[in-house]
Amino acid sequence: DRSLKIAPSILSADFANFGAECAAIEAQGADWVHVDVMDGHFVPNITFGPATCAAIRPHIKGVMDVHLMISPVDAYIDAFAEAGSDFITAHVEAGPHIHRTLQAIRGAGAKAGVALNPATPASAVEYLLDMVDLICVMTVNPGFGGQKFIHSQVEKVRQLRAMIGDRPIHIEIDGGVTPETAPLVAQAGADVLVAGSAVFKGGSVQNPAPYGDNMRAI
Ligand code: DX5
Ligand code: ZN
Repeated sequence: DRSLKIAPSILSADFANFGAECAAIEAQGADWVHVDVMDGHFVPNITFGPATCAAIRPHIKGVMDVHLMISPVDAYIDAFAEAGSDFITAHVEAGPHIHRTLQAIRGAGAKAGVALNPATPASAVEYLLDMVDLICVMTVNPGFGGQKFIHSQVEKVRQLRAMIGDRPIHIEIDGGVTPETAPLVAQAGADVLVAGSAVFKGGSVQNPAPYGDNMRAI
């Protein structure tokens, strides 16, 4: 299904109210919920791990899309799968054996995603196309919400869409998605748009009305 999907990132949500935040964004039209896991090693920020994902899971009716910005990855795959992740995405830069990591993700019963940092070329995933369900193109350097979209990545999206051909692989965009940048990547072939700060905009569960409006604007 290549229709456009919005995946709000709870990195910009109220960390003390994840359950209510997930329910609120879904009620207002979120297609997927994007969950950013950071380890303070692969990226210079720390969020949370599999226990938090498991705690969030019952509050999400649809797809839980877990983005692992951690290294190493393999030892934690089973825990994230058992937490109820629909997609588990690992970075191609996270270690020398991304092929094994993707095998392990599918082996654990989840859909497998591979993410590329801005400096990593599209060709890095050419030999992985038959083992992934999603390719995540980072349009910021991972680690923080609210950064500026890196325009050079639009061409990478175009290259990946051509490379993928008929394969049923999602192209996800992560970072700096706004009403201005969303059309650029959608036209280049992306179908899942992650958006953190643009959706939450300082909103909260106490005042959830802006979420839906912000998502529609994207
Ligand atoms: C960045 C994360 C993103 C982030 C996007 O490292 O992977 O998911 O939350 O946030 P915005 O939409 O604010 O750029
Ligand atoms: Zn992310």
